[in-house]
Amino acid sequence: MGAQEVVVSRTIAAAPEAIWQVITDIGRAPDFFRSVSAVEVLGSGGYAPGFRWRETLTVFGRSETRELTVVEVDPNRRTVLESEAAGVRYRISCELTRSGDHYESAPRTLVVSRFVADQLATAPHILWRVLGSLGAKATEEVLAQDLADLASVVERADAEDMIVIHRLFNRELTAGPDLVTGVPGGDLHRAGIVADHLEIVLNTLVDHHHGEDLLIWPLLAARTTIPEDVHDRVSDQHDAIHDRVGRARDLLRRWREQADSGIRDELAGLITELADILRDHLEDEENRILPLVEQHLTHAEYLALVEHGHESLPKDKAALIVQLVLEGANKRERALVLERLPRSQQLMIRTVGARQYRRYVRRLREAG
Ligand SMILES: [Fe+2]
Ligand SMILES: [Fe+2]
Repeated sequence: MGAQEVVVSRTIAAAPEAIWQVITDIGRAPDFFRSVSAVEVLGSGGYAPGFRWRETLTVFGRSETRELTVVEVDPNRRTVLESEAAGVRYRISCELTRSGDHYESAPRTLVVSRFVADQLATAPHILWRVLGSLGAKATEEVLAQDLADLASVVERADAEDMIVIHRLFNRELTAGPDLVTGVPGGDLHRAGIVADHLEIVLNTLVDHHHGEDLLIWPLLAARTTIPEDVHDRVSDQHDAIHDRVGRARDLLRRWREQADSGIRDELAGLITELADILRDHLEDEENRILPLVEQHLTHAEYLALVEHGHESLPKDKAALIVQLVLEGANKRERALVLERLPRSQQLMIRTVGARQYRRYVRRLREAG
């Protein structure tokens, strides 16, 4: 009876030291890995050969408790664990190899997880065959999921796509006043087109801020000190933006109904103000806040904001809004935005989305 071996690997954008800290922090494994639902450390002492613990693995809806012992430790490089259950001995090793330049600002590590199961003399032959054939695929999936979880804990946020989204707000609100004043008094049809567009932009802005308030600010506040001047200025800007958006929504509603030139001019003035405040605000956010986000938030935490953004898009407008975001993006930014979209939207954007968007933009910008 030979040994069964499963090997999975993944390159993670973090230093081996950061990864080592997570994989050897056994007590917190349930916080880091979806597969581990409970841990009970047995005995005392730190992570060293002989260190033991009992953990409950929950995979594919089934739970199983196993006892693990550390048998090899080479800090920041390699560790091996052993476990024995149902007549089979398991050896799990984890190897870390730094890749790329040591002085690079973004270190990378190749992580290789190896799982070896050895049948012991007492194991019934049939049981081993069942475990061997069903177990290998399942084990591979679990190890791959563990590495994905590890990556999401240690990799830092890459918030470059936020800049691309900000560009949409700046561009559309800067263009807004001319679009509005270009509508002749009484032209209900044209007022409707422009009002719909500005409403989409304002709603997207509000959702964007809402996501940041919910998912970014509390984490940043807990992990770092935002310089007081930045904090005060940004909250003043938030209040000012909130106020202008509320008034603009009200004016948009009245203008759409009446196409009155007085309301139109008031709206254009208000959007000019909003665009000015927002330009300063987004610049502060990009220069002062985003570096903190990239430093203090994990990739997974930042992706939660991206996902929140996708979820808050109204279904019938999602493709259009993504196209608006992509309009100002270069090739690399475009790839980044697309990669983070749900698959169904990616397909939509690549197929009918572009054509529909061209028609939308022509109607909005040229018919004025
Ligand atoms: Fe933002
Ligand atoms: Fe903001």
